[in-house]
Amino acid sequence: MSPDSLPRSMLITADIAGLRRRVAAARHAGQLIGCVPTMGALHAGHVSLMQQARTECDFVIATLFVNPKQFGPQEDLQKYPRPFEVDCDKCREAGVDLLFHPDIRAMYPAEFATFVAVDGLTANWEGVIRPTHFRGVTTVVAKLLNLTQPDKAYFGQKDFQQQAIIRRMCRDLDMPTEIVTCPTVRDPDGLALSSRNVYLSPTERASGLSLHRALCLARDKVQAGETNLEVIRLVMRAEMEQTPGVFVDYATIADPDSLVELSDPQPRMVALVAARVGPTRLIDNLLIP
Ligand code: PAJ
Repeated sequence: MSPDSLPRSMLITADIAGLRRRVAAARHAGQLIGCVPTMGALHAGHVSLMQQARTECDFVIATLFVNPKQFGPQEDLQKYPRPFEVDCDKCREAGVDLLFHPDIRAMYPAEFATFVAVDGLTANWEGVIRPTHFRGVTTVVAKLLNLTQPDKAYFGQKDFQQQAIIRRMCRDLDMPTEIVTCPTVRDPDGLALSSRNVYLSPTERASGLSLHRALCLARDKVQAGETNLEVIRLVMRAEMEQTPGVFVDYATIADPDSLVELSDPQPRMVALVAARVGPTRLIDNLLIP
């Protein structure tokens, strides 16, 4: 067995001081540090981020923290799945060196008073429907990047607006971490993997496939030469709305950097969709080259 194929040992810590000591040691040893922030309930999408970090970095940190500050009052904070032991096994198998699993008081002591908020990019799409969500995300990600001091941090394209906002935050605040966006992992039928898919009944899951169908229709229309983006938006919306149980929040084609809705085609575009299926919200997107 080569040293590379030997199982690695993974350190699990909830302790901020312990994390900082381990990060300092990795830095001192000249190791390239990668960080994969997650909220747990890990699936193959999360694992793909960890695997990419493993191939690109010497020391891979995954963080597992269900961040209360990014959940709205009516959202699923209490019932968010927390299969901790299974998550640990998945991190270990993906080659994670250190799993940081802080408790809420360590991250947000009673006197906590500072938020990081990105303007502009948060004004549309998810930001309209979940008005306090992104400032919760950017606050916790800023904290996690400060704590883990990574050279690279890995995020999924699945949450397209999130990765754009985090990229903006790092640039604006001169954070030295490179943000890497990894492709969306899907089930074979096209449904984007999400920790929230466990909430879907079999019928709702089937209806949820309409999001991916709508995105593929948009791509196909563009590639077939359709230049009227309003027509394409209507086609996407219709594809979802004609599916029983699907209530569309938005279906749009936007600039992948500014996330502003486009009126005319351009070389790089992103189709973004969000819908409620039963009690669950689903989001998905597709880059249209
Ligand atoms: P979470 O939903 O656990 O997702 C963690 C990371 O996994 C995010 O970067 C997300 O985009 C990525 N991811 C989720 N589903 C994916 C899929 N199907 N394919 C590829 N990547 C996928 O996103 C969050 O947590 C939180 O907002 C967080 C950034 C951790 C801050 O709390």
